[in-house]
Amino acid sequence: MEHQSEMQAAKLLKAQSHIWNHIFNFINSMSLKCAVDLSIPETIYNYGQPMPLSKLIASLQIHPSKSSFIHRLMRILIQSGFFATENVANNELEIGYVLTDSSMLLLKDSPLSVTPFLLAMLDPIFTKPWHQLSTWFRNDDATTFETENGIPFFEFFGREPRLNNLYNDAMASDAKLVCNLLLDDKYKGVFEGLESLVDVGGGTGTLAKAIAKSFPQLECIVFDQPHVVAGFEFEGSENLRYVGGDMFEAIPPSNAIMLKWILHDWNDEEGLKILRKCKEAIMKNGSKGGKVIIIDTVMKDEKQGDDESLQTQLFFDMLMMVLHSGKERNEKEWAKLIFSAGFSNYKITPILGIRSLIEIYPYQLNDTIIMDENIVSESPLIV
Ligand SMILES: C[S@@+](CC[C@H](N)C(=O)[O-])C[C@H]1O[C@@H](n2cnc3c(N)ncnc32)[C@H](O)[C@@H]1O
Repeated sequence: MEHQSEMQAAKLLKAQSHIWNHIFNFINSMSLKCAVDLSIPETIYNYGQPMPLSKLIASLQIHPSKSSFIHRLMRILIQSGFFATENVANNELEIGYVLTDSSMLLLKDSPLSVTPFLLAMLDPIFTKPWHQLSTWFRNDDATTFETENGIPFFEFFGREPRLNNLYNDAMASDAKLVCNLLLDDKYKGVFEGLESLVDVGGGTGTLAKAIAKSFPQLECIVFDQPHVVAGFEFEGSENLRYVGGDMFEAIPPSNAIMLKWILHDWNDEEGLKILRKCKEAIMKNGSKGGKVIIIDTVMKDEKQGDDESLQTQLFFDMLMMVLHSGKERNEKEWAKLIFSAGFSNYKITPILGIRSLIEIYPYQLNDTIIMDENIVSESPLIV
């Protein structure tokens, strides 16, 4: 009997602890943002060896009355995997802070820095709508962002230069990391043989610029809303142009279309319209072949992948529900969207962490696609 009540108590306390852990999940995000704001990753990196607490405190621009709090900030960030400790050289008794793979990616000057994305996503403009989520479930607004701000996301950002820049920089930082992987010799075959490419919703052109540089014979266009590409025209080159427009109206004719992080912003009806415009642009171009290259998430089911990557996909799915009308899709949902838009075949290559490369083809393929060991699936049916 006593044993049973002990079991009950243990279950009760575990449940309470689970709730507390979720109530305070935001403390992980906000502690990380604080470390970035205080330039802690750069400070430790520049020290060049394990950095003792006293040296870290002395190097940070903080008020002297706050010195004694830094070790507590560092302690939670060690627990969440952003810093580690190692023995200080020539002093076995002293430990110093070092960066981990994740905090290396937070260095502001690193070419692959994720910091612009972090600063945007944790800006109040992105975090405040979450307080309206339950209100949104009870009203008929299209998005929680609209419940908070009164107008759709892209319209709002178009009117506010600070937010336009914050968002475009966040996207550009992600594009740099993706270019780095996609233009590696192992995968750049994706662009081989193409004559022209339009990066639809290509932001300020980071990805298209890198592709144009790697493939000088490929004519590239960065296509985005006029306020996004405004002022970037001078960044074009011999084989790269910037064009402003609306992807729901018309996309410049091209042999290939790139859609990176576009379709997850939109619901199926809107996604269908975008894909049909892509097909139209490929058909208008007239040349044989052609494809749409999509970079987006293919949701795993609960049995696939590790807990953290599945949870990250679920976070993005909720984010798309709050900011936009979009969603993350599993393979079945992707296939339905792709075939409904009149495409004949698709190929998914999961080479981008929680995201995948999805190539979709408007024409019936006569030849078998050469399989890569990374390909999870190819469309089972040709319609
Ligand atoms: C999530 S961002 C992706 C940016 C870029 N492809 C990347 O991944 O780095 C979505 C992009 O779609 C653009 N966009 C939104 N509505 C658009 C429209 N109607 N026509 C063209 N571009 C649009 C936005 O301005 C933004 O740059």
